[in-house]
Amino acid sequence: MDAPLRPSDKPFLRVLAGEPISPPPIWLMRQAGRYLPEYRKLRAESASFLEFCATPKAATEATLQPIRRFGFDAAILFSDILVVPHSLGQRVSFEANSGPKLEPIKSPEDFAKLKEEIDLDGLAPVFETIERVKERLSAQTSLIGFCGAPFTVASYMIAGYGAPDQAPARLLAYRDPALFQRLIDRLVIASIAYLTRQIEAGVEAVQVFDSWAGVLPTPELERWSIAPVEAIIAGVKKKAPGVPIILFPRGVGQRLPAFPAKTGLDGLSLDACVDPAWARQALDENVVLQGNLDPLALLAGGQALEQGTRRILSGFAGRPHIFNLGHGVLPETPTQNVELMLHLIRRGGEGNPNP
Ligand code: CP3
Repeated sequence: MDAPLRPSDKPFLRVLAGEPISPPPIWLMRQAGRYLPEYRKLRAESASFLEFCATPKAATEATLQPIRRFGFDAAILFSDILVVPHSLGQRVSFEANSGPKLEPIKSPEDFAKLKEEIDLDGLAPVFETIERVKERLSAQTSLIGFCGAPFTVASYMIAGYGAPDQAPARLLAYRDPALFQRLIDRLVIASIAYLTRQIEAGVEAVQVFDSWAGVLPTPELERWSIAPVEAIIAGVKKKAPGVPIILFPRGVGQRLPAFPAKTGLDGLSLDACVDPAWARQALDENVVLQGNLDPLALLAGGQALEQGTRRILSGFAGRPHIFNLGHGVLPETPTQNVELMLHLIRRGGEGNPNP
């Protein structure tokens, strides 16, 4: 029998340590979820999404489903970024087909109702899920933990729903920056504690989702996205210096280089609008890149999927790169398209000069 792999032999972690690997390791944002029939079946057994996330047996199974079906190089913990506001005492629910609903924070009085500290004991099922998944993953597969970045999480906490341009949060930040800062600071501290605890339970890398960073004008981007993410990364690194941190600042365009320059991240996840050729020259060659196939190209399949996949493989060839989407898998995505994508990548599709 072959000697067991050491953790650093996992392709996903090797790339995060700066090694280019061809073909690149692959995982997909939202790789667990409604596009999988086995997920829909399992999900139907729980009354609410939060209850599902808080049931280690169900969450473990949902985490493993896409690994079993597709053999991705990394599993991402099945949970949600909104368990953090829930664990700060805010009321959160998920309604079928209309997304998350929260009791909105509109005033200092609403803010005062939040807990000072995140209730990590209440999140015990998440840490138990991590332990269970770790026992069941193969030696080649890595486990990713995650949280939302403070601005993205605050956007939901203030609006109470997924507002298209995050206007309620941005308005509060202009009208009462001191209050907004207090909320961001609370989320920074909560996120450090939450990620550190996920690492103690066994995750090998973490991703911070700043899905709404792109709506912020530049001075606000510095203050509400870059600075809090920098503080989270510094806080987590102090406790777990060896664990790589990936950041997904969606939609920030030409302002991307500020993120590796200022936050201390290990990996940068690119949205689908970032041109690989631009990224190559704009981002220092030791920045590990992740991405960035358009989720709609994966949904559409055929030529769009083939061309998009090849363009990404050739665009990032020779650099440390983790193949992913530019945002999450859409619920209508046919599973055969995911198989085609994997085939194109793993057989080193013609577009890859470095098979
Ligand atoms: O597979 C994985 O990626 C792991 C699990 C995961 C979920 N949400 C499961 C989920 C992860 C990493 C997330 C992150 C998340 N959640 C983000 C950041 C990434 C992004 O998409 O921008 C955000 C903004 C949220 C908030 C959220 N959760 C919304 C807006 C919604 C409703 C819209 C939607 O896509 O359904 C959710 C619900 C949610 N989170 C579902 C799943 C599988 C669907 C609920 C269900 O199955 O009933």
